[in-house]
Amino acid sequence: MSIPRSWFPYAAGLITAGVALTVVWVALHHDSAPEQAPYHEIRSESALRLAADDATVIARGRTLFQRNCTLCHGTAGQGLSGPNLRDDHWLKGSDLQRICESIANGNPAKGMAAWSATLKADDLQALAAFIASLHGTEDGTGKAPEGSHQPMTWRTRP
Ligand code: HEC
Repeated sequence: MSIPRSWFPYAAGLITAGVALTVVWVALHHDSAPEQAPYHEIRSESALRLAADDATVIARGRTLFQRNCTLCHGTAGQGLSGPNLRDDHWLKGSDLQRICESIANGNPAKGMAAWSATLKADDLQALAAFIASLHGTEDGTGKAPEGSHQPMTWRTRP
């Protein structure tokens, strides 16, 4: 099938319009991925601490941790390429909100992915609960401490 020469300007016009519409569509939709609210706006510290005492939540966190995190943090959270998560030293802070944000935002430049794309608020809460349950289990065999000394003082030691 061939297009008569006299139609060429219209065809060219259609193509130009198509390209222009595509550019506009991309510009409009580029940033429209739903922004996840900062974690501290989703769960309060006290709600997270309450969940950290719940055996069911901790168990859920353990499963998620074993599935996603042990490669870098070790099966017992003792640290491998990633930092030790059972000692009292934290790069970003030991508050549970802070821990959730560390997981959600990561630090891709240092090898920690941002997990907010795959893990939802409940998953983060469960992981933070599991990590809190590791508190006090450092037995001297884990990775050397990194960051500053910020023990989870709110947690009653067993
Ligand atoms: C590919 C390796 C890797 C994986 C997988 C990984 N992490 Fe990390 N993680 C790191 C590194 C490296 C850091 C240190 C980042 C930095 O220097 O800021 C880190 C930091 C953290 C911190 C902050 C620690 C602190 O001292 O403040 C937490 C909490 C954490 N990771 C939890 C998790 C959880 C939970 C998972 C699984 C969902 C996970 N990580 C998966 C490598 C990893």
